[in-house]
Amino acid sequence: MERRNIVGALLQALMVVVALAAGVATVGGSPPEPIVKCKSGNSDCTVTNAFGTFPDRTTCRVAAVAYPANEAELVAVVSAAAAKKQHMKVVTEYGHSIPKLSCPGGPAGAGLAISSQKLNRVVAVDAKARRMTFEAGITLQRLIAAAAAEGLALRYNPYWHGITLGGLLATGAHGSSLFGKGSAVHEYVVGMRMVVPTTAPAAGGVHARIVDLREGDPDLLAAKVSLGVLGVISQVTLQLEPMFKRSITYRTQRDHAFESTVSSFAATTEFGDIAWYPGQEKVVYRDDVRLPLTAQGKGKNDFAGFQPQLSVLISAIRKSEELLEETESSDGKCLLAKIQVNTLLATGAGLKNDDSRLIDFTGFPVVGNQSDMQSSGSCLTGKDDGLLTACGWDPRLDGFFYHQTAFSIPIPTVAAFIADVKKLHALRPGSLCGLDLYSGLLMRFVRNSTAFLGKTADCADFDMTYFRSNDPEDPRLDQDILEEVEQMAFFKYGALPHWGKNRHVGFIGVSDKYGDRRDRFVAAMTKYDSEGLFSSDWVDAVLGIRGKSLSLEKEGCALEGLCICSRDEHCSPAKGYFCRRGLVYKEARVCRKSEKEDDAPIVHTEL
Ligand SMILES: Cc1cc2nc3c(=O)[nH]c(=O)nc-3n(C[C@H](O)[C@H](O)[C@H](O)COP(=O)(O)OP(=O)(O)OC[C@H]3O[C@@H](n4cnc5c(N)ncnc54)[C@H](O)[C@@H]3O)c2cc1C
Ligand SMILES: *[C@@H]1O[C@H](CO)[C@@H](O)[C@H](O)[C@H]1NC(C)=O
Ligand SMILES: *[C@@H]1O[C@H](CO)[C@@H](O)[C@H](O)[C@H]1NC(C)=O
Repeated sequence: MERRNIVGALLQALMVVVALAAGVATVGGSPPEPIVKCKSGNSDCTVTNAFGTFPDRTTCRVAAVAYPANEAELVAVVSAAAAKKQHMKVVTEYGHSIPKLSCPGGPAGAGLAISSQKLNRVVAVDAKARRMTFEAGITLQRLIAAAAAEGLALRYNPYWHGITLGGLLATGAHGSSLFGKGSAVHEYVVGMRMVVPTTAPAAGGVHARIVDLREGDPDLLAAKVSLGVLGVISQVTLQLEPMFKRSITYRTQRDHAFESTVSSFAATTEFGDIAWYPGQEKVVYRDDVRLPLTAQGKGKNDFAGFQPQLSVLISAIRKSEELLEETESSDGKCLLAKIQVNTLLATGAGLKNDDSRLIDFTGFPVVGNQSDMQSSGSCLTGKDDGLLTACGWDPRLDGFFYHQTAFSIPIPTVAAFIADVKKLHALRPGSLCGLDLYSGLLMRFVRNSTAFLGKTADCADFDMTYFRSNDPEDPRLDQDILEEVEQMAFFKYGALPHWGKNRHVGFIGVSDKYGDRRDRFVAAMTKYDSEGLFSSDWVDAVLGIRGKSLSLEKEGCALEGLCICSRDEHCSPAKGYFCRRGLVYKEARVCRKSEKEDDAPIVHTEL
């Protein structure tokens, strides 16, 4: 069959499936499998993440997993491991970070995983000060509900409620805002209790102690965003505020000159974000503002991408994506993306005007309580339907499998970055449609932080999500362009990576970007965990300490972002992908499909 026909047939088939799916009211969402699996009882286990794969596709083996159910049990667990000098890491209920953060260091298979799953209660409520203290394993969903029951709300937070308080803080997670202290949850931390190992046992032979950090304690600046390496966060006290309402409208425009509106939009729209679909030359502004509690509205945000996905539908979408990759059809991706985005917006992207009505979405704006609008994730918590539906990335399904690059660019240079990406789009129309299939380039706003590993300036945080091949040796369609965007962000514009997302490339040189803030973080790390029992080669490499390096140069390493290519064999010469210069950012080194002789090979000098 000719390429054009394949794509046409495929899209037709897809539309039928989409139409069918729209008729199925889904309340399911098979709960994910545990991320820790053991051979016998709680020992001889493997740890993975919610996607079932780390960026380097390695497995993480641990000697055992512990499930402390209160702080005293947590002290006992850390103490027993510290006495043996065993490496350890906290694992959360679902493990939603992409990098291999939760794998203990030390000899492979000898470490301990400490699950925070049973540390999920509300510890204290101070109604007058509007503060609540939670155990760190509580999910964002339960946290929001518990606060709402007190008439309180967290001001800003991530969009996905399946993550835990401990994990989201450790990775600096955020929502979108430049108002007040900005959208990162760690800005609203006013107290923290950690359990840390001790070298010399205290009375009773205990090798662990509790550290109680209060507001104003300088060590809180290290503990707020800790990458999990200071010790176990046991409890966190958050500053909340009285419940309020929000009004959300999605507004679509051509992307012509939109880069000049980004900073004024952020300055005037408290919860706003911008989804840029570069392949379609379209932007969707999320006009998202605060209203008083007295405003009318029982709206709810149940974001479509986080709803239970029909497994037959997502495997059909995955299959079509694979086919478009195989037939090298950028145009097919553009078409598919257009259908997807139009459907999404026509249905309010999962916004519901009134949860009790039969028809969910009747039009913008959608107004509702902060607790119903701030975050969602119904695919995680629905009734088990035996994998009829699940979260789209559930590794048991033949569903979505993707790379994610997430970076923060200081507001003053955002417009220049966007203009550069537009140049790439102009040179290679269609090459960015793969992004449009996954929410485009989503821009959210995060403020300069005093937390050492928080943002160092007011930023727009970009998320880009794109096809990942099941076979690590397979080059991807238009991967040169996506790699150029990634390298442009991190190296031309000096972007900071999201700690809980990204491929290896995003972390190259990050410790230098943090400068003396990195040094102050490492000093705190050494103070609380002098033997590095909570550290690992991965975190050491990211922080640039203990002589560990991120470099993973081997054949094909650039195909999955494990390295930046400097030689052709880092790409896939056998499949026609060679290491070439960027088209706009000449310093970039990317894997491009080319005839061996058709463009100048790179002279191997720097890098
Ligand atoms: C669908 C989806 C949507 C997302 N949306 C957003 C978003 O809107 N904004 C955003 O910023 N991010 C977002 N993320 C990324 C996400 O916020 C981070 O990956 C998040 O930090 C993961 O939290 P977790 O509880 O799963 O922690 P994990 O990934 O399990 O752990 C992260 C790190 O924290 C450590 N850790 C966890 N708990 C503790 C503890 N109690 N004490 C010490 N160390 C601990 C772990 O050891 C590990 O090193 C999203 C991710 C997904 C999958
Ligand atoms: C919104 O919050 C207020 C205050 O907590 C509460 O009284 C009200 O019932 C909530 N509304 C909805 C629709 O849940
Ligand atoms: C960030 O904030 C710190 C302290 O609040 C300030 O010293 C610094 O100049 C700010 N940096 C930027 C780039 O705004």
